[in-house]
Amino acid sequence: MRVGVLTGGGDCPGLNAVIRAIVRKGVQEYGYDFTGFRDGWRGPLEGDTVRLDIPAVRGTLPRGGTILGSSRTNPLKVENGIRRIKDNLAKLDVQALVAIGGEDTLGVAARLSDEYGVPCVGVPKTIDNDLSATDYTFGFDTAVNIATEAIDRLHTTAESHMRVLVVEVMGRHAGWIALHSGLAGGANVILIPEQRFDVDQVCAWVTSRFRASYAPIVVVAEGAMPKDGDMVLKDGSLDSFGHVRLSGVGEWLAKEIESRTGKEARTTVLGHVQRGGTPSAFDRWLATRFGLHAIDCVRDGDFGTMVALRGTDIVRVPLAEATAKLKTVDPKLYAEIGVFFG
Ligand code: F6P
Repeated sequence: MRVGVLTGGGDCPGLNAVIRAIVRKGVQEYGYDFTGFRDGWRGPLEGDTVRLDIPAVRGTLPRGGTILGSSRTNPLKVENGIRRIKDNLAKLDVQALVAIGGEDTLGVAARLSDEYGVPCVGVPKTIDNDLSATDYTFGFDTAVNIATEAIDRLHTTAESHMRVLVVEVMGRHAGWIALHSGLAGGANVILIPEQRFDVDQVCAWVTSRFRASYAPIVVVAEGAMPKDGDMVLKDGSLDSFGHVRLSGVGEWLAKEIESRTGKEARTTVLGHVQRGGTPSAFDRWLATRFGLHAIDCVRDGDFGTMVALRGTDIVRVPLAEATAKLKTVDPKLYAEIGVFFG
């Protein structure tokens, strides 16, 4: 049996650990052959492949990024996209596909499996941790550690200059990175996409922090929105899944804070630093377990499923269900940490 593997969407630390586990178990235990597809769905769409065997995955466990490359190509938006994928899989004798991705990549895998009869298994990845069927996605823990270290460092420079430091982190629709890193880093304000914020309230927290003779750290998710405004966009461009590019809310907020409080403010945008580099030990562990279970789904012919973490168990859930709804921050959880604001 020949199994295809692809990684789609924004990359994240741990992708190579999944690929390595799939290949190691697939070759050693089940005698499978593998074909790597380059750059997400672009690979099967254009028949662009890369050798994938045990030597190809050696030494990749601690490496960030993905040895297969990634893209946000949406084959459902390409003329004859499904037909081209099916023809290329048949030509390459690939009988099953493991798609490692977030909501968009796995949404395509769900439709290919359920509507077009392409046998797919999904593995959830995203630093945003916003897939509802799994307790955690790999990549999130690494991103939170990077953001927390940045916040720790920003505390000392903020205090030397008695300035406000606004830290913008990733998180388009879900504030998980902001919430976890903000709490771990002792931020004084945490703003998430799920709850619109009041700039006057933010300024009141900032002022009260200065009153206590400390410099405030404000953590804001890139998708957070003021009460009477919209998401701040980088530019008007859309990717092929229809997502706008975000970033800029941190800069905007720092200016508002300066003009309303008279205190100096600076912004740090962490951006893709959160997605790069070596995965944390937890992400290596989770990614490896996802890979081992994904290849078991292939062996069992359990297609149209995604592997997911529930507690400490890896379970299988229908791909269509897993991609139907995003996992966002519960208002009760957000309220719980409000005691640290200001
Ligand atoms: O989906 C993960 C993510 O990192 C989001 O948090 C962010 O908005 C987006 O990807 C950035 O995408 P790109 O790298 O394509 O600009």
